[in-house]
Amino acid sequence: MFWIIIGGPGAGKGTQCANLVRDFGFVHLSAGDLLREEQQRPGSQYGELIKTYIREGKIVPMEVTIALLENAMLASGQKRFLIDGFPRKMDQALKFEEQVVPSKFTLYFECPEEVMLKRLMKRGETSGRADDNIESITKRFRVFTETSYPVIEHYKKDGKVHTVSCIDAPDAVYANVKNIFTNLFKDQK
Ligand code: C5P
Ligand code: MG
Repeated sequence: MFWIIIGGPGAGKGTQCANLVRDFGFVHLSAGDLLREEQQRPGSQYGELIKTYIREGKIVPMEVTIALLENAMLASGQKRFLIDGFPRKMDQALKFEEQVVPSKFTLYFECPEEVMLKRLMKRGETSGRADDNIESITKRFRVFTETSYPVIEHYKKDGKVHTVSCIDAPDAVYANVKNIFTNLFKDQK
């Protein structure tokens, strides 16, 4: 079973997923983290490709990302996953559901660009990430709007999307997130 966590760059997906792991015992799989790990793995045939795509804010071809996610799911030996930052493109959404497992539900972290920009520039002071700079961030925002947002609209048609505003500080956002998940599990019992 998996729950999709999606939102623009800097919306706070990683931060909130860490809270959900602590309280609900999910396995957290961040597509971006998996891609960065693969990029650094000595001998990876995708290292250079991933590096270029990430710097340009472009979406890495889905075969690479899906294989990384599938491997991580298998390696965990667990069954309940938060998939963070995936799918980012329609082809990924359709392929993953067909090839792996349909999603339970999608949590969409809604956040205005100016708030995300501030967070990313701040994060860039210490993150060491090659894409936390103004040039890459501008590209990532464009890709989110043009390529990733349609995925959210697709899930919205099935009534599977819960939207949470991420403007507030992490603790306030998490209060809402926790409520949603608590209700979700209550219904399922
Ligand atoms: O989610 P995160 O901000 O860590 O993603 C960083 C970058 O990783 C994205 O801008 C994109 O280049 C790449 N990525 C991707 N496909 C995904 C998730 C991330 O290509 N599903
Ligand atoms: Mg992240």
